[in-house]
Amino acid sequence: MNPTDARSLFDGVQRLAIITGSGVSAESGIPTFRDTENGLWADFDPMTLATPEGFLRDAPLVWAWYAWRRHLVAGASPNPGHTAISELLSSFASAALITQNVDDLHERAGSRNVIHLHGELMKSKCFDCHHPQADSAPPLPEPRERIEPPQCLQCGGRLRPDVVWFGEVLPPDAWEQAMDAVSTCDLLIVAGTSGQVYPAASLVEVAYAAEATVIQINPEPTPLDRWATANIRGRSGDVLPELVRLLSRPA
Ligand code: OAD
Repeated sequence: MNPTDARSLFDGVQRLAIITGSGVSAESGIPTFRDTENGLWADFDPMTLATPEGFLRDAPLVWAWYAWRRHLVAGASPNPGHTAISELLSSFASAALITQNVDDLHERAGSRNVIHLHGELMKSKCFDCHHPQADSAPPLPEPRERIEPPQCLQCGGRLRPDVVWFGEVLPPDAWEQAMDAVSTCDLLIVAGTSGQVYPAASLVEVAYAAEATVIQINPEPTPLDRWATANIRGRSGDVLPELVRLLSRPA
């Protein structure tokens, strides 16, 4: 389906929910995870870099890899997809943005109360006592170096990025808010995710089961296609601004 045909799916919508994945930040130059070109997991081993066991084995390698990713995000800017999402959110009385992304590009595009299912790259916490903590480690331009993580001011443990690693539970508040949003929305837009990581992907099925309209935006087919009322094959930085333009015109 194209954005023009999808326009009518917004008619009468009171409650909007949006779920985003790394594809939404791809046009800002932030790598996705599973794309065959440029996907992070093509070049880096998730079990080494994105698990508690990996951190226990080689914390300086893990800390440095996330410092490199912070460097990428710090140097990036929101793209027209992020801006369009912020505009969509402000044009509905009830709207929620749920992201799997750990970057802060939605916030920098003006979106508020973003539900970060997988944590936030720019924040840190103690690996041992989980106390959230500001850290001053500078972003790092090279991914394969080693840097000793700073120490926790509470217990002396090592700091880690405040992101969700494989095998870890999602932040309970974020999950509760996300479930509430998808089970009560009239329209769910899901953009830029491969739909392969659970439980995040199951939110789309929850919206479908609650009889919400589901619009998916992705250049490629995904396992979420089956739940979507409309699959718009395209880049979020093109499709979302087009939808905003169409909605700003009288029907
Ligand atoms: P993936 O890398 O799995 O999927 C990215 C999706 O974005 C693919 O379906 C692409 O087709 C699509 N895509 C690429 N460019 C796009 C564009 N310009 N516009 C729209 N879509 C585009 O990334 P995620 O689904 O976000 O978890 O991955 C989910 C989780 O897996 C991540 O949050 C991360 C990772 O392991 C954790 O870190 C816990």
